[in-house]
Amino acid sequence: MKIIRAKDYNDMSRKAANIISAQIIMKPHCVLGLATGGTPVGTYKQLVEWYNKGDLDLSEVTTVNLDEYRGLPRDHEQSYWHFMHVHFFDLVNIDPSRIHLPEGTDPDAAAACARYDQIIHDLGGIDLQLLGIGIDGHIGFNEPGAAFELGTHCVDLTESTIEANKRFFASREEVPRQAYTMGIKTIMQARKVLLAVSGGSKAEIVKQAFFGPVTPEVPASILQMHPDVTLVGDEEALHLI
Ligand code: GLP
Repeated sequence: MKIIRAKDYNDMSRKAANIISAQIIMKPHCVLGLATGGTPVGTYKQLVEWYNKGDLDLSEVTTVNLDEYRGLPRDHEQSYWHFMHVHFFDLVNIDPSRIHLPEGTDPDAAAACARYDQIIHDLGGIDLQLLGIGIDGHIGFNEPGAAFELGTHCVDLTESTIEANKRFFASREEVPRQAYTMGIKTIMQARKVLLAVSGGSKAEIVKQAFFGPVTPEVPASILQMHPDVTLVGDEEALHLI
């Protein structure tokens, strides 16, 4: 595992964007696994800036996002589809037909998940998977206790995740209770993993995930077994390791 220490959120975002941009330059037709949440917003902003300067071309890139709330239509303001378009896809030259997220409104959960796994399989897997981490150690929406061998599946969100994500909704009641997420197996099959983290509230879980026991109770801890993981974090997030 490589650990890259950044000064602050902006520095962390620039460093994460540099790694993604290197991936795109080395393999223009790469498959990027992307993440939502507050952490990667600065990374996407930096990539957009480089695109606007003419330094980055995303025309051949394919993306597969980690997760999507179950039940939210794509145009819902809090859907991850919407998030990704507002913060990234609408601002760069990515081909819309190469953008993939789980289909949140498909009532047939098993079919929606199987289709998503098939898409990733047909693409030949993920070259670089960007991840954030929840304060309980979740990655994607793989909550504590999630089986390590799962592909894309439907999850019940924990109280802690609903609480953490309510800041994006008008009220706690509006936060969906379920989501479709790539499983740990899918994430572990990515050729490279880049986990970005910022802020003191994540320091303890980062220590547990990367230096504690590998256990489903801390889903991110499985990344200790991945052959190519880069952790990029700011001082506050990494101060315990
Ligand atoms: C959500 C997402 C995760 C993300 C996590 C942390 O639950 N499903 O992919 O890593 O939140 O978000 P933040 O970066 O806002 O702390």
